[in-house]
Amino acid sequence: MNNYIDPSLARKMSAATLQQKVDILFTYMEKRGQSFYDEAVTQLEHALQCAALAKQNDASPTLITSALLHDIGHIILDEHNADVAFLDTDLNHEEIGAQYLEPFFPESITTPIRLHVPAKRYLCTTDSSYYDGLSEASKRSLKLQGGVMSDKEREAFEQISHYLDALTLRRWDDMAKVKGLETVGLETYRDVVQQCIK
Ligand SMILES: [Fe+2]
Repeated sequence: MNNYIDPSLARKMSAATLQQKVDILFTYMEKRGQSFYDEAVTQLEHALQCAALAKQNDASPTLITSALLHDIGHIILDEHNADVAFLDTDLNHEEIGAQYLEPFFPESITTPIRLHVPAKRYLCTTDSSYYDGLSEASKRSLKLQGGVMSDKEREAFEQISHYLDALTLRRWDDMAKVKGLETVGLETYRDVVQQCIK
């Protein structure tokens, strides 16, 4: 099992000025995001499509940043489609990504990132049409992520602040897998991300 968390991004960002932090983050995503997320899109394309959906829906800067960075855990774990174990082993990319970003971004950004996997479980529990619309890969990973929620789990989920942002993010996440879709690049989000860095 691959449990290696790449420390280089956090190390470089820690020692950087505000503007450099964004440079370092975007360079990292550009370079490490070229591996395939699924059959259709790369990790970077997936992040850009998700952020574009947030922007088109007039989301707040924090939610746009969450959308852009929600799968950073896959990148720092080097989890991708070419790795045979990718969909059969759960490395908790949502928790690892959220923890990794906590020194740099506020809770309003890291919580939706942390919750975007439980959000799928929540939506599968509360919205019968939601499950049918999931990609095959996402259906396959649901079981591994805990399956549908019990009433108790659902009620506990609703007590967490920013849970509604996590549900919104999750729906964009599921839509952000369109092969060949043209999106704006990372630079479009420079100001938004920079204003969110703490
Ligand atoms: Fe995602």
